[in-house]
Amino acid sequence: MSNHDWHSIANRAQSLVKEAARLIRDSLKEKRIVEYKSNPNDLVTEMDRRIEAFFTEEITREFSTHLILGEEGTGKDLKDLNGIVWIIDPIDGTTNFVHQQRHFAISVGIYENGVGMVGIIYDVMADELYTAIKGEGAFLNGRKLPKLKKADVKEALIAVNSGWIIKDERLIPLIRDCRGTRAYGAAAIEMASVAANRTDAYISLNLSPWDFAAGAIIIKEVGARVTTLEGADLNLLKPSTICVAKEGLYEQLQNHYFN
Ligand code: IPD
Ligand code: CA
Ligand code: CA
Repeated sequence: MSNHDWHSIANRAQSLVKEAARLIRDSLKEKRIVEYKSNPNDLVTEMDRRIEAFFTEEITREFSTHLILGEEGTGKDLKDLNGIVWIIDPIDGTTNFVHQQRHFAISVGIYENGVGMVGIIYDVMADELYTAIKGEGAFLNGRKLPKLKKADVKEALIAVNSGWIIKDERLIPLIRDCRGTRAYGAAAIEMASVAANRTDAYISLNLSPWDFAAGAIIIKEVGARVTTLEGADLNLLKPSTICVAKEGLYEQLQNHYFN
């Protein structure tokens, strides 16, 4: 472990997340300005950008040596994860934010030389704050989350977006074999839901580092697994597939469905 005071960094990060959430909640009273990026399904609002700018300003002022990688463009030229890097999704679940005004999260993962040290996911409207510091367990609103027990595909509730089933037929037998599927529409919340024992696995064919940076840290602290679909370590600088699952179920997914 490095000689940084990770407790005080985590506390500060939590306060920033709570402050950002207040800004988002206040903005719900106003009309949202929605644009789309690459296509009509890829939404962005002025709040996504405002919240990322808020984090960037605060982090740069307080932690001048720390680096930032954010969905809305901060650190887009980052070539490696040397030093301390905050990986931020200012609003994960923008489509939910626009359509439903709930089921969206703020996601912050803090890495040191590529090692996940602090993970924070805040489901803003549910007021559920997931936190983890490496080696110290994961917490939901300050209460320690129990280590997850092994799971079996036949009894598993698996979070997966139905769109992926059309794209990858390896998912069809899995969906047939498991107990049921869910789709929350916010990757960070889907990862946090496995950590909180509400689902048993989460699968996606395309996530970006800011979608999974915090979740990966939290998931490891409850004894579950997180890799690409084929079992490789996640790369925090590139988009990838993702397979999050409890022990037992993870091995079944890897051996019987994806490899
Ligand atoms: C998206 C959500 C969604 C996932 C997409 C992400 P955004 O993030 O997490 O659930 O399926 O791949 O891009 O754009 O709302 O931050
Ligand atoms: Ca996201
Ligand atoms: Ca986002």
